[in-house]
Amino acid sequence: MSASYHEQQPTVLVLDFGAQYAQLIARRVREARVYSEIVPYDISAEDVESRKPAALILSGGPSSVYAEGAPRMDARILEMGIPILGLCYGMQLMALELGGEVPRTDVGEYGFAELQVVDPRCRLLEDMPERSQAWMSHRDSVGSVPEGFIMTARTAITPIAAMEDPGRRLYAAQFHPEVAHTQFGQEIVRRFLYEIAEIPPVWTMVNIIDENVESIREQVGADRVICGLSGGVDSSVTAALVHRAVGDQLTCVFVDHGLMRKDEGAEVVRVFRDQFHVDLVHVQAQERYLSLLSGVTDPEQKRRIIGEEFWKVFFEEATKLKGARWLAQGTLYPDVIESGSRTAAKIKSHHNLIPFPDGVHFDLIEPLRALFKDEVRAVGKELGLPDDIVLRQPFPGPGLAVRIIGEITYEKLELLRRADAIVREEIAAWDRDGTVWQYFAVLPDIRSVGVMGDERTYGRPIVVRAVTSVDAMTADWARLPHELLARISNRIINEIEGINRVAYDITSKPPGTIEWE
Ligand code: XMP
Repeated sequence: MSASYHEQQPTVLVLDFGAQYAQLIARRVREARVYSEIVPYDISAEDVESRKPAALILSGGPSSVYAEGAPRMDARILEMGIPILGLCYGMQLMALELGGEVPRTDVGEYGFAELQVVDPRCRLLEDMPERSQAWMSHRDSVGSVPEGFIMTARTAITPIAAMEDPGRRLYAAQFHPEVAHTQFGQEIVRRFLYEIAEIPPVWTMVNIIDENVESIREQVGADRVICGLSGGVDSSVTAALVHRAVGDQLTCVFVDHGLMRKDEGAEVVRVFRDQFHVDLVHVQAQERYLSLLSGVTDPEQKRRIIGEEFWKVFFEEATKLKGARWLAQGTLYPDVIESGSRTAAKIKSHHNLIPFPDGVHFDLIEPLRALFKDEVRAVGKELGLPDDIVLRQPFPGPGLAVRIIGEITYEKLELLRRADAIVREEIAAWDRDGTVWQYFAVLPDIRSVGVMGDERTYGRPIVVRAVTSVDAMTADWARLPHELLARISNRIINEIEGINRVAYDITSKPPGTIEWE
């Protein structure tokens, strides 16, 4: 799919020097409505030439250009006349390759810095106030600019914080405009794209949908397509998009493992069968799953059983559909790029990940493989999927199984489902702006004594988990108001027989994880 975008759209290539920043840069470019792709840093000048990019951005990378094995680029790319923006490590490389100096220093600069624009002739930082906040994360920095460049900004610690040579269309910044902490970061990205590289902002969700619909139709012809639905964002948007393209040629198989949250399974059926009129096979596999999980307490074993059973059930149904040749999968761009390594942008073989039974094979269509998660949500919204699905919080594939500690039984599932519904209802009503990343209930494998009325109880506790986060890599426990916690606790204990205690998890990640298990 990416080939068609790249042929039709002006494309910015982001050379990935191994920092987590490359994906962020690509996303910022797309937010400016310009299509971007991440490529390995060692892409050759010939490959760049053949892809005809409208501009290049060199990402940040390791802390020092002098580090062992520090990645270098094909320097001929700098002389091709393509507009290039070098960021952080990318700036240092640009300087080194073109005859500037990057002296070894022991003084790094990390975090906020005051950026001062020093040359009114500069194009990249034109229109910026003389002083603003920028985000820094580097050890070395450029000591003298290559011939033809002017120095355009500095900070207290870094004398050359930005440089440019408009004649050769080369621009560079030591700070990170792609990071939200940089005050005028997105303005700088936009200036580079629109004013300097003269790329029109034409990439929109409607483009993505139209182009995808067209290429799916072409690819599939008159064949039948199947798609596994899980209720998650990726598979739902894939199904909705393929359905827009080929209508009745699509059959969706929804393997309902019975480990979903309250009403979630019914919602999948309502949306796809009743709203989209998709040919939907709803496999109610709860009992099968519960019997397989009976007596199993090890979290890894639970995950393995649930994962293997999914494909078993799925292929049992898929092979009943005569003439189906294609399997639609919700692979996203971050699954395709292995960021942070020299293998960036090399394509992982998803065929290897799907355990096709002997003698069974489907060709894959992966209409979302050029998209980031937030773009997938926007496509889903545009296609008419409800917020419950497109704005869904991350939810593990094995569902509530990871939130029940110890053996999974029907009774425990029901207790957890009811408690979780209360937690979600109460926090959603309070958190209208969506400041909390994820919230849910957990059922630990213990009982404790309590008293209700005149009677002693020996019931189960519910743990409430609510965290703030930007990417789930790190997280902090949400500072929920005590009144809200009190309401949740009262409701759970009053409404659910068998629960006699509610605890709130005040562990951040690290050292904790978001899920229990
Ligand atoms: P942890 O618990 O490792 O979770 O802090 C990080 C994020 O990943 C989600 N998660 C999953 N998502 N399939 C998923 O799609 C899974 O198996 C899975 N396990 C954990 C978790 O909810 C959190 O957002």
